[in-house]
Amino acid sequence: MILKIIILCSLNLITLKQAHEIFEDSIDYYQDLLQQFLKNASQWEQPTDSRRFFKLINEQQEAIHHGHYDFIIVGAGAAGSVLTNRLTESGKFKVLVLEAGGQENDFTDVPGFAPYLVRSDFNWGYKTIPQKNSCLGFRNKQCNYPRGKAIGGSTVINFLMYLRGNKLDFDKWGSNSPGWDYESILPYFKKSENSTIDYEDPGYHGHHGPVSVETARYHPDITNTFLKAAAQRGSTILDYNGKDQIGYSRTQMMTKRGKRSSAGKAFVTPIVHRENLELLDYSLGIKILINNKKAYGVEFIRNGKKYKATTSKEVIISGGTINSPQILMLSGIGPKEHLEELGIPVVQDLPVGENLQDHQVYPALLFSTNISIENESPIQENIKQYLKGYGPLTVASAITGIGLDNPNVKTKNSLVEYAFFSGRIEDAVPFLLDFMQMTEENWQAISEPLAGKYVWGMFSNLLHPKSKGTITLKTKDPLDYPLMDSNHYSDPDGDDMREMLTLIKDVLDISNTPAFQAIDSKYVSNPLPACTNCRHLSDDYWRCALRQLTFSLLHAVATCRMGPKSDKTAVVDKELKVYGINGLRVADASVIPFPLSANPTAAVYMVAEITSDLIRKEYGDL
Ligand SMILES: Cc1cc2nc3c(=O)[nH]c(=O)nc-3n(C[C@H](O)[C@H](O)[C@H](O)COP(=O)(O)OP(=O)(O)OC[C@H]3O[C@@H](n4cnc5c(N)ncnc54)[C@H](O)[C@@H]3O)c2cc1C
Ligand SMILES: *[C@@H]1O[C@H](CO)[C@@H](O)[C@H](O)[C@H]1NC(C)=O
Ligand SMILES: *[C@@H]1O[C@H](CO)[C@@H](O)[C@H](O)[C@H]1NC(C)=O
Ligand SMILES: *[C@@H]1O[C@H](CO)[C@@H](O)[C@H](O)[C@H]1NC(C)=O
Repeated sequence: MILKIIILCSLNLITLKQAHEIFEDSIDYYQDLLQQFLKNASQWEQPTDSRRFFKLINEQQEAIHHGHYDFIIVGAGAAGSVLTNRLTESGKFKVLVLEAGGQENDFTDVPGFAPYLVRSDFNWGYKTIPQKNSCLGFRNKQCNYPRGKAIGGSTVINFLMYLRGNKLDFDKWGSNSPGWDYESILPYFKKSENSTIDYEDPGYHGHHGPVSVETARYHPDITNTFLKAAAQRGSTILDYNGKDQIGYSRTQMMTKRGKRSSAGKAFVTPIVHRENLELLDYSLGIKILINNKKAYGVEFIRNGKKYKATTSKEVIISGGTINSPQILMLSGIGPKEHLEELGIPVVQDLPVGENLQDHQVYPALLFSTNISIENESPIQENIKQYLKGYGPLTVASAITGIGLDNPNVKTKNSLVEYAFFSGRIEDAVPFLLDFMQMTEENWQAISEPLAGKYVWGMFSNLLHPKSKGTITLKTKDPLDYPLMDSNHYSDPDGDDMREMLTLIKDVLDISNTPAFQAIDSKYVSNPLPACTNCRHLSDDYWRCALRQLTFSLLHAVATCRMGPKSDKTAVVDKELKVYGINGLRVADASVIPFPLSANPTAAVYMVAEITSDLIRKEYGDL
């Protein structure tokens, strides 16, 4: 790599900086990057706590006073990045932002490399605790649970699909928390967005916001088969973030000319030099300082030393659905009994960490076709296309189509989000085997009959599950990871299982449409080893298979859920203020009161935009 730069420079025609830029735009550079990354990934050990990064040099050290601010934000993820930008906009407030991770890079920019990022320090490396009713076919009965650790948070490693959710979701939210109905929140979706969707409904999109949204820049022919099949089943092809939200279309992506448009790049990078902003990376918030039920600062670890920073106005926690409950509980805000068990003095008894809800998916609905795989292009060609802003590397896991649907047709809200993907079965290895950590024997059962075939698949994402899980603390040590119990298929009436069975049959029905039959679409799988005592593909077989391979879809919400004071499950009020504590808000995915009909990023941006306005109004900045 150094050699190449020297050769370029020795021509004496270009500066070192230009040479570097040209090199960064070259196929060789990305191929090297990929090889180096995969080498690192093969040696990466999934952390089970934060000690590798944040161990104190001297356990007894008193916290060093770092400074005094108007606001302290803990976590610069999807929500924290928005807040960082908006609260420093006028210059009126001095803001400290603490982020446990560092900067994104050229590798994280490539949407097609997203599944690889899970094996890197951009991922906290969480897993669910071993499960009883789900995740059974993944290693050690645990669902892997990647979370982004970087400026930009999970938007640096996520799959970039842009969906807002159904109008009815927000009207339900707003019926409990005034100001959060669809009509009130719609302007905030538009505020973040710079859409170039080519089929957008007028009036429903923003064109001046920082987050770039575009139609997937990869469209293999089979995406048309998917859309044709939808039409043949009587479904509408539409802008699912527009006027109506039930229907099918190509994927809307948070990319800019095919590169990742993360929260970091959209909200933080352009404003990082503001004088009233201090952004500390590689810094772990470990405790909210509270006196007389008023938050006045945060304790954190950076470079092995303990610090504290204080505020005159507020502390805002934006650590995400797993980490925000953790830091609240470490600070004495949480379920009384749980805190007492761990010896943490109780400051405020609240249902923090309860009500965890997540979407779930059966990731192995894979169909063979008679499309030739000979035309599949090599990595060099894909990189070349990526640099020009199109091709397979501009999408994550080849998801090129989305459908929001309801096979029961009982309500106007969708029951399922279908995510359609295609390619060689070998291309699914990083995602299904390394990312989800499916057991080798299940992978064999699924992939063997598909070897050498061009395959399509459908993630059938159950949008409104009833099962609830928890986030709890393992110990009172902030360097221990919290415990996540996803607890799928635990709802007493068994509705989640019944709905999932409906969805499986619906996908099999999609395969039977004339559109898919024209490419000889067939569901082929060997029985999963744990389910061989059921007749293959009978309802009992599917019930068994669903418990084996249900993946918790990384859309967790509601662990600090918003609700009125009378709601015993609520942690924050409609202004994101933590009940019973002054000067403390939580703003991130954890406040979303129930799973939406969407992947959450767009809604998290919306939550943070609203929070910013509420705060600025309260302190006379708007
Ligand atoms: C692999 C993957 C794929 C996904 N795909 C999609 C998708 O296609 N579309 C979509 O809309 N959503 C997707 N999501 C979900 C989406 O990215 C998250 O829901 C969203 O980013 C949540 O935003 P947040 O602000 O709540 O948390 P995050 O974005 O996770 O940010 C939290 C931040 O806080 C930091 N932090 C936490 N604790 C501390 C602490 N104590 N001190 C300092 N810093 C701390 C973290 O390092 C992180 O940067 C995906 C998620 C993953 C992991
Ligand atoms: C691989 O790891 C090395 C050493 O930690 C690091 O310097 C390098 O940036 C990593 N490469 C990639 C592509 O992540
Ligand atoms: C919105 O996107 C378009 C197309 O990429 C770009 O030309 C324009 O500058 C963007 N606007 C903003 C405000 O970023
Ligand atoms: C694929 O199968 C369909 C349906 O059997 C058939 O009509 C079509 O000709 C086949 N295409 C190829 C390329 O074999």
